[in-house]
Amino acid sequence: MARTASEAPRSALQFPEGFRWGTATSAYQVEGAAREDGRGPSIWDTFAQTPGRIRDGSNGDASVDHYHRYKDDVALMKGLGAKAYRFSIAWPRLFPDGRGTLNDRGLAFYDRLVDELLRAGIEPFATLYHWDLPQALQDKGGWQARDTALAFGDYAGLVARKLGDRVGHIFTLNEVQAFVEHGHQSGVFAPGMKLTPGALNQVRHHAVLAHGLAVRAIRANAPAGAKVGPAENMTIALPVIETPEHIRAAELATREVNAPYLTVMLEGRYTDAYLANAGADAPKFTPQDLEIIASPVDFVGLNVYSPGLHVLASETAPGYAAVKVPSSYPRMASEWLTVGPEALYWAPRHAAKLWNVKDIYITENGASAADQPAADGVVYDIDRVMYLRNYLTHLQRATAEGVPVRGYFLWSLLDNFEWADGYATRFGLVHVDYASQKRTPKLSAAFYREVIARNAVA
Ligand code: FCB
Repeated sequence: MARTASEAPRSALQFPEGFRWGTATSAYQVEGAAREDGRGPSIWDTFAQTPGRIRDGSNGDASVDHYHRYKDDVALMKGLGAKAYRFSIAWPRLFPDGRGTLNDRGLAFYDRLVDELLRAGIEPFATLYHWDLPQALQDKGGWQARDTALAFGDYAGLVARKLGDRVGHIFTLNEVQAFVEHGHQSGVFAPGMKLTPGALNQVRHHAVLAHGLAVRAIRANAPAGAKVGPAENMTIALPVIETPEHIRAAELATREVNAPYLTVMLEGRYTDAYLANAGADAPKFTPQDLEIIASPVDFVGLNVYSPGLHVLASETAPGYAAVKVPSSYPRMASEWLTVGPEALYWAPRHAAKLWNVKDIYITENGASAADQPAADGVVYDIDRVMYLRNYLTHLQRATAEGVPVRGYFLWSLLDNFEWADGYATRFGLVHVDYASQKRTPKLSAAFYREVIARNAVA
């Protein structure tokens, strides 16, 4: 690496003091050790073992072996100068059957990980559910069963009791929208279902209910008062041009398209348009459910990749119209990952404006790329660097305008199991040779180290 950060020129694009720079991973994607220390199977084990579900026929059995190599991985984070780490806890490690008796050996892994992070001066941010539902609960109906939400609340309370003395920030569910729709509508994610609209809306309702029950359980059980919030991939509407009317249309659209997700979590009601459109397929719920769902949170986590839609103001209801995305719109290696860096400005700005959110974390943002080591062994991922520099420039704009963003977690620390895409789609700052498990920081890791050291877009 050429120059140390302290010798670098001061960038005009500074972030606020104390901004938390981190990286993110999730249990099934990085841990491996799928059958160790009493871990029960999850729906992703079942799904990945079903032929034809994962593009390269792979699964997370061994993955990148974070379960055994977590010390090396924490050292890699330290090398970046990262201040925080967002990881997820595998529910089936703690409760192999989803509920009942705690599996101490499963919990012990997270004890070790948290202690290692704290020793390295890295703040742990834990996610309770990153899609690995215990298979035993799926067998009893999964998210179609209200009881799954209750079981999640119990599990959340237990985590708060056991880790809440050291983990100060807890995210409930990762991307309700993604696991509900990909898992239960298109069926490309576990558990691979294609439900009718009514059943799908009920799954959505149970998932946000689980979020609310977890918020309450964490408040009741965390000894040191852990802070809690969701980590949602809010669908982000961008104004086609930054005029007041298009911006207003983008706000309206963002509230409406997220109606059964962040909107109900933060407002405690389903929008009139959502209920009218759903008609007889609307979820069944009680007023008390809505109160639970909207239990006050301390922060909102936003996973930001692609813009969801580009909108124009419209005179007719609902007050906005979406523009078709041209085929020439740039994208990264993942088919779905269109590159719209403004999304990282508008996502937190919309959340702050629509729901008066006071603390926002960008819980994921990152890029997939081809990532082959060059002849000298270095991965020159200048496409990822380009992507990050652009997105971070827009995030900096948000903070400079006073949008209350407190931290950013780059997805991901390591190359890992990218769900139905398997291992070929790489998101890491650190390249992993899957055969040898050798870790090699890419050029983007050097870039991110500079960003963190300067607290500015580098
Ligand atoms: C997000 C997921 C995360 C990862 C990234 C690329 O939707 O939360 O696990 O797969 O996409």
